[in-house]
This record gives sequence, C-alpha cells and structure tokens, in this order.
Amino acid sequence: MAIRDIVRYGDERLVAKNEDVTDFEDPALRELIRDLFETGWAAPGLGIAAPQIGVNKRVCVVDLSVGKDPSQALVLINPRVVDAEGLVRDEEGCLSFPDIVEIVERPEAVAVEAFDEKGVRRVLEGADLLARAFCHEIDHLDSRLFIERMSSLKRGFVLRKVLKRQKRGEW
Ligand code: NI
Repeated sequence: MAIRDIVRYGDERLVAKNEDVTDFEDPALRELIRDLFETGWAAPGLGIAAPQIGVNKRVCVVDLSVGKDPSQALVLINPRVVDAEGLVRDEEGCLSFPDIVEIVERPEAVAVEAFDEKGVRRVLEGADLLARAFCHEIDHLDSRLFIERMSSLKRGFVLRKVLKRQKRGEW
C-alpha cells in the first residue's frame, strides 16, 4: 500500500482518456484500489479517481466516512450513471484543485452501475452528498473536471486563482 502523489489541474493525465478494466484478477488492480483508498484517506477526501494518481483506468473510490467505516468504502470500476433525479446546488471541492471550493449543480439522487473489486456488477444508489461524490468521480473517469460544471464566470474566477498560485510556484 502506498500514498501516491495527487495530480493537480494542468496535468494532462486528468483529461486523458481512461480505459475500461477488463482483467479483474490483475494484482495491479488490487494495488491500484488500495492506493486510491490510502491516498484518499490521507488527503483527506471523500473520493478519488485513478487519473488523479496518474493511472488512466476507469476506477474510482468513494468513502464518505474517510476511512472510519468500512461499510462506506465503495469501489466503482467501469461505472456509469444509469438514472438521475433532481438537481442540487452545493459546495464542492476536488483533490486536484486544493483549497478551492465552489458551488456546483449535481443530481440530488443517482443510480450508478459499476463493477466491484471482485468483478461483480452492482447498482449503487446514492442521494445528496453520496450522489455528488459518485457524479464527481465518474466525471473524472470521463476526463471531465468540476470546473466544467461551473458557470463560465465562476470557472474564469477559479482559473485565475489557479494561475496566480502556479506563478507563485504554489501549485
Ligand atoms: Ni476531483
């Protein structure tokens, strides 16, 4: 197990295409999942996607308990949103945009189809914060960042902040 470096906005791996997992027996998949949990817990964050540690595979983890409750530690492999209800505007952050929190609109509830770490296909339902975490991480696997869910005004504001921090060597 290892805590991996988190890739920040500007790194091309965050917007590269992510490949489906096809081999669920691969030891590298198990290591990837462990590293995602370790890195997410250490950050700390509520979820993290493989491209954020530089691995362009369709794997992400969500754990709203941040390591405190094993029943909340969810692995989503090759996930896709199959149903969504309602819309909520609320604060959202991303480990690839440290210290940036902005209002983003997300579904109030979603159903997600995904494989677990054993290769079993499941449908996971989530509401409120869990729905937001699912959508945010699945967006990462679709090479889409949360700034793309913001108004152009807000996105411009965030990107100017990032640019300032990049210039100061703080990014
Ligand atoms: Ni993120």
